[in-house]
Amino acid sequence: MAGRGMLLLALLVLGCVGFAAATPIGDGIRQVIDHEGGLGDGTVGQWAHALCGAEKKFEGFMREFGKVYHTVEEYEHRFGVFKDNLLKALKHQALDPTASHGVTQFSDLTEEEFANQYLGLKVPQALKSEPSAPNLPTGDLPANFDWREKGAVSAVKNQGACGSCWAFSTTGAVEGAHFLATGKLLSLSEQQLVDCDHQCDPEERDACDSGCNGGLMTNAYKYVEEAGGLELESDYPYTGRDGKCGFNTNKVAAKVSNFTNIPIDEDQVAAYLVKSGPLAIGINAEFMQTYIGGVSCPLLCNKRNLDHGVLLVGYGERGFAPARLSYKPYWIIKNSWGPMWGEKGYYKICRGHGECGLNTMVSAVAAGVDA
Ligand SMILES: *[C@@H]1O[C@H](CO)[C@@H](O)[C@H](O)[C@H]1NC(C)=O
Repeated sequence: MAGRGMLLLALLVLGCVGFAAATPIGDGIRQVIDHEGGLGDGTVGQWAHALCGAEKKFEGFMREFGKVYHTVEEYEHRFGVFKDNLLKALKHQALDPTASHGVTQFSDLTEEEFANQYLGLKVPQALKSEPSAPNLPTGDLPANFDWREKGAVSAVKNQGACGSCWAFSTTGAVEGAHFLATGKLLSLSEQQLVDCDHQCDPEERDACDSGCNGGLMTNAYKYVEEAGGLELESDYPYTGRDGKCGFNTNKVAAKVSNFTNIPIDEDQVAAYLVKSGPLAIGINAEFMQTYIGGVSCPLLCNKRNLDHGVLLVGYGERGFAPARLSYKPYWIIKNSWGPMWGEKGYYKICRGHGECGLNTMVSAVAAGVDA
């Protein structure tokens, strides 16, 4: 750890005294941190150089994301965190050259703050390794597939500073299942899950859904099944805070009939995606804090450290990977950090390597048709 930190520091110092922009590594990787705010442009080397003007970048960041700090101390503290995150983005860029990493709306948050406020997946200690779903044939799968094009995916939502990712992953999957069953796309209520769902994992009593403090999608399906359904977003709107349960059974708009875990083989995941609709998945979100766009394919991403619940909506076979001069197959993931994050709220991650553990906690849900 310390060694890597020193290396980055050395890079920075080099940057400040004129790290040559002509180095091959610098030329090979185009750093895109100039989206909208004009925060700068160029190679990693130039970027390291530009880090010496971090305060200007910080002010650009504050303007772009409407950040206000009320005291000098708070400003100084956030500026320090921001500089740490510039280093982190630099590290992520080196480890994940086919994506772009840089300044995002989360650049003034520590790792811990980011995890507490914007993630929220509770993973049971004993992640079931034996999935219950049988294998499907994979021979006839389309080369490219996207549930958004078929009208099964609602607009990107925003969980705000609340560890409720699991609720968004759940509603996304139920919205898709309901669309498959009825042909109608609804936007369903996460707040109902945040306020009312306290379901626990059957095998682990302390892995319980608990609003902004995290939860699990399969627990939530169970809750929806038992409670009788989900209300519409418009009837039970999102507040991003834990609240008293106000579920009204008369307002149920969508039901769950059954759900299942999916095998970890990524061709099976694709087959289930095509057959059952968008799938709720768990993922290690480490590289998402700094993600700006492209196909994320990190060289080192712990597959066991799942901490974020998202929605798999499609896949493609030819994601452009400029640094490797080749095309990469990728997954398309709907996130719940608003449309400003990533690629209009979506994350592309490479397919076929169990990247960031994305294939290890996948579930499918079916809608009750009488709703
Ligand atoms: C739900 O149950 C039906 C009928 O048994 C089955 O065909 C389907 O695969 C199940 N779906 C899921 C997502 O578990």
